[in-house]
Amino acid sequence: MKPVSTRLLSLLLSASPLAIPLSALAQVTPCVPDDLSTTPVNWNVDFATDVQPIFDVACSGCHIGGSSGGLSLAPGSAYANLVGVPASNGNAGIPRVTASDPEASFLFKKLNCTNLNDIEDMPYGARMPRNGPPYLSLADQAMILDWIEQGALAAAVPNLLFRDGFDGRAE
Ligand code: HEC
Repeated sequence: MKPVSTRLLSLLLSASPLAIPLSALAQVTPCVPDDLSTTPVNWNVDFATDVQPIFDVACSGCHIGGSSGGLSLAPGSAYANLVGVPASNGNAGIPRVTASDPEASFLFKKLNCTNLNDIEDMPYGARMPRNGPPYLSLADQAMILDWIEQGALAAAVPNLLFRDGFDGRAE
């Protein structure tokens, strides 16, 4: 069966007293992610040495030496512009980065969702990097995922949860 188009749906809804704007409907569009389940976990991710270099390579021109989408990812300011900061995209509904919660991090969705460019009227904008494909490698996406999951820290905490391995205890 042909799915009801969102355009038709919004027309029907706008006729009702409880009209919902199309942008609100679009927010429930699920992210179709790249599958990162086969990528190894990166322990003790450090923002400056592990994450920033990804931005330096893939996001320059637009977010470095520019602030497309109101976002500068320049070294020295990227961290403060991401963690806990509301997205400029009014449809995002989530901050750019929510510590420990990749699903509530617009940055991660913009990198990981394969369907952003197919959503009618592009309420979330394009998948990043905007000049892709290619988009970020699975390894680079996983690095950003792990950074967020580990608390989106400004700097790595050595031995976080014994991740460098257990020291044998004296008997
Ligand atoms: C060719 C230019 C270009 C490149 C390269 C690019 N972006 Fe973007 N970015 C944009 C534009 C334009 C927007 C605003 C429109 C949109 O969202 O599609 C944007 C928006 C964003 C947003 C949403 C900001 C907000 O608060 O709403 C994020 C997050 C983002 N980009 C991350 C990245 C990351 C990370 C990279 C590198 C991996 C990257 N972008 C590479 C042009 C670019």
